[in-house]
Amino acid sequence: MNDQPFLHAFSNMSPATSHSSRAEDGSVMSGQVRKRFRRGAAQIPAPVRDSTAPPVQTVVASPVVTRYPATSPIRDEWDELRLVPMGVRRHFLSGAPLVNFFRRDPAAQAFDLLRTRLLQTLRANGWSRIAIAAPTQGCGSTFTAVNLAQSLARIPNSRTVLMDLNHRNPDIALTLGLDCIGDTRRFLAGEIPLDRHLMRASKTLALGLTADPDPDAAEILHNTRCGETLERMTEVLHPDVVLYDLPPILAYDDLVAFLPQVDGVLLVADGTQTLARHIAACEQMLDGQTQVLGVILNRARRSGLKEYQL
Ligand SMILES: Nc1ncnc2c1ncn2[C@@H]1O[C@H](COP(=O)(O)OP(=O)(O)O)[C@@H](O)[C@H]1O
Ligand SMILES: [Mg+2]
Repeated sequence: MNDQPFLHAFSNMSPATSHSSRAEDGSVMSGQVRKRFRRGAAQIPAPVRDSTAPPVQTVVASPVVTRYPATSPIRDEWDELRLVPMGVRRHFLSGAPLVNFFRRDPAAQAFDLLRTRLLQTLRANGWSRIAIAAPTQGCGSTFTAVNLAQSLARIPNSRTVLMDLNHRNPDIALTLGLDCIGDTRRFLAGEIPLDRHLMRASKTLALGLTADPDPDAAEILHNTRCGETLERMTEVLHPDVVLYDLPPILAYDDLVAFLPQVDGVLLVADGTQTLARHIAACEQMLDGQTQVLGVILNRARRSGLKEYQL
């Protein structure tokens, strides 16, 4: 049986027509005969087809549909994010109290405890997206977001994303002593890809930084593309936790605009300036729209209260 065309088409894993040619009499030429034909040896007779042989089958190998070549490892966009390590010296120059460098400090233990409790709640409910905000400016929202992110990132093989969504007064880059790369506004609007905005500070911590205040702060978070972009980010990066640092709740409506994108809110109260009525006002604004996962009491020592209560 003449099975040459079958093998030829199949072994090339491509449509049979691209590698088999028809001679003038309509029979299929083998590769060797075709070469001779091209060299001007067309007078060599093509193999005579046996009329009793079954008709030549044309097999078009169906393309194998895989997202990535079978031989290469599965692409992980987390690993492809730029790695921009945080320099210890720059940390100190930034002057921010970062517990990562003071592991014996009670504050470090308090953040680790907060981390553990938060993770328990998130896992129990299948949540991952947390907004961090304070009632008023200067309570320690960024301080909490950065230190909690670093505490979470100490868990081996975990993935934490920290994003600065405080377009009123962005300060995560400053706190970490990092040069701000990226553009949150354009990223959220879907105008620049994930890997041009996000970077990794370590194997387990990705950052989305904001450079300057933006006069259209509220509109950025109201943009319908914002939700789609962040949804895609979580689909692609598979983070365990995403922390969003937001502006003060009682001063701006940014957090309320952003609530559809989060599973819960961590409120940061400042023991030296936050009043009970501030917390009550925040809870009232969030009531029925999201869960308040906890109220963190910052600067408790100076206020005489117990430190960092959740
Ligand atoms: N517990 C703390 N101990 C020492 N400094 C703190 C503490 N909490 C906040 N700060 C400092 O106070 C300032 C205001 O805190 P920040 O987190 O920027 O407030 P917010 O983001 O709520 O406006 C920052 O310089 C921060 O480093
Ligand atoms: Mg801040």
